[in-house]
Amino acid sequence: REEKIQLLKDNIGAIQDFPIKGILFRDIFTIFLEPKILQACIDIMIDTVKECSKDIGGIVGLDARGFLFGPSIALALKVPFIPVRKAGKLPGETIKESYDLEYGSNTVEIQKNSIKPGQRLLIVDDLLATGGTLKAACNLIEKVGGITDSCLVLIELTALKGRENVPSKVVSLIKYD
Ligand code: PRP
Ligand code: HPA
Repeated sequence: REEKIQLLKDNIGAIQDFPIKGILFRDIFTIFLEPKILQACIDIMIDTVKECSKDIGGIVGLDARGFLFGPSIALALKVPFIPVRKAGKLPGETIKESYDLEYGSNTVEIQKNSIKPGQRLLIVDDLLATGGTLKAACNLIEKVGGITDSCLVLIELTALKGRENVPSKVVSLIKYD
């Protein structure tokens, strides 16, 4: 398992000064160029969910890169996949939550009828930075009557201490300072 995680870590791209000067951007799409590495990534995420979480009744994926992993995990657990999207993309009745970014703010939303009262959910995303996005997703789930069991991210940028902002257990597979 540690070997597989190291394989993933060795295959995540790092691009200096994207999207703005001073940011070292971790690029997950390098993993997707190699089917064997993508398979290892999905396998480890599924194994981790099976080990760390019990009685998960649905996977909530975050727009956009959480959508790359969420449905595969949901299929493995045979539970629904539920999207949280950037505002203005989902039809029907929705609930919104706004949060601050380093510069400006963002709004995400969920469909009201996508979650049943008391449903236990695991949130999946590619990366934890400040934790604002995961926190907003936890708040949305609470507003629609669901329960956040835990959050799973592939990458955690530990120096930003984002997990302190998230009102839920956070499991990360790969950590960078
Ligand atoms: C990135 C990333 C996470 C979020 C993490 O998404 O995929 O969702 O930022 O940052 P935070 O912990 O500071 O909230 P982004 O908003 O860039 O959207 P994208 O997936 O559509 O590129
Ligand atoms: N990579 C990808 N997404 C991000 C990053 C990063 O380094 N920081 C905040 N969102």
